[in-house]
Amino acid sequence: MAAIQSRKSDHIAIAASGNANHEKTTLLEEVHLSHHSLPECNFDDIDMSCQLMGFKLKAPLMISGMTGGTKEAGDINRALAKAAQKHGLAMGLGSQRAMVEDKTLQRTYDIKSDIPDFPLFGNLGVVQAKAYGVKKIENLAQENRLDGLCIHLNPAQEMVQRDGDREFVGCVAFLQELKGSLSLPLVVKETGAGMDMETLNQLSLVGIKAVDVSGSGGTSWTAVESLRDERNGVYSELGKEFWNWGCPTAVSVVAAAKAGFEIIASGGVRTGLDIAKSLSLGAHIVGMAQPFLKAYKENGDLGLDEKIVGLIRSLQTSMLLTGSKNLKALRDNTPYLGPNLQHELKVRGLQPFDGNNS
Ligand code: FNR
Repeated sequence: MAAIQSRKSDHIAIAASGNANHEKTTLLEEVHLSHHSLPECNFDDIDMSCQLMGFKLKAPLMISGMTGGTKEAGDINRALAKAAQKHGLAMGLGSQRAMVEDKTLQRTYDIKSDIPDFPLFGNLGVVQAKAYGVKKIENLAQENRLDGLCIHLNPAQEMVQRDGDREFVGCVAFLQELKGSLSLPLVVKETGAGMDMETLNQLSLVGIKAVDVSGSGGTSWTAVESLRDERNGVYSELGKEFWNWGCPTAVSVVAAAKAGFEIIASGGVRTGLDIAKSLSLGAHIVGMAQPFLKAYKENGDLGLDEKIVGLIRSLQTSMLLTGSKNLKALRDNTPYLGPNLQHELKVRGLQPFDGNNS
């Protein structure tokens, strides 16, 4: 099996096992929503519909980009797509580098021909995207009938990968070029290490409007690589040392809201209450990866379906208990913040937090 495909299989197995989580939290546990004993809304009338970059969703949830490139990955993508279409969610593909390098793998990403009715976002790492150039990326988008594109940033993962990328000069200028010429909506996403103010300012300066913060607190990609390369001394050790590297999800969301982005909050979002808290901090929707993979691996299509139904019920409950008839009302909630989150915001100049600003 080619190196990329073997890596994909390892990633699926290790991430799904739950052994590669950050030991530090998202800090969403320090976000407290106010309880309403007289909500003045009916549970069944609560409206969770919203938009992501102009695409209508039935609930503020995206299945984050995970995979592609192997038979197993193709089956996973298809199952995720069916669930996204059924529940009116958005979905991302995993990195499409494998299919650029081997055209026969395109079918493992080509899910729109059978399952057409949901917003699908493609995925490339920024270093590879820069090497391919805008024209090749446009072709890729057409081949897979993409509705949007996520460009992922993963320097921490690359540094602890034996054969990872080491050259990052020029990526900011490339994002500017891509934003200026790509015909699809563009999201810049992290992969579990979050986005601090400096990164967000750089992205803002080159015209990026939407980010998926993918903060620390959920799946750690330095941890995944460390476990993958356990027998290879130096990289495994490096992965352990940087296991908890990154900016927590709650902090990343507040920073991105302050900078005025359209925000997908992800990285360790695990419950409907986490979704509600993320939105109250300023996110527009949330993304989740590992929980969907785990649900599918454990119980197939039914597992996925039950996971999504449970998340939506819990979000709807959070909305009722905060007296929020719709997502605008939920986002207008100003949560109370615990001391650790307040401290993290303060050292970054993000305090006082006075609710999200859009
Ligand atoms: C990922 N993730 C990811 N992200 C990306 O932009 N391109 C990719 O190819 C992948 N591959 C991938 C594989 C697997 C198996 C998982 C679980 C995840 C990262 C993912 O989109 C997300 O940002 C992080 O996993 C954090 O979210 P969770 O897992 O804590 O919900």
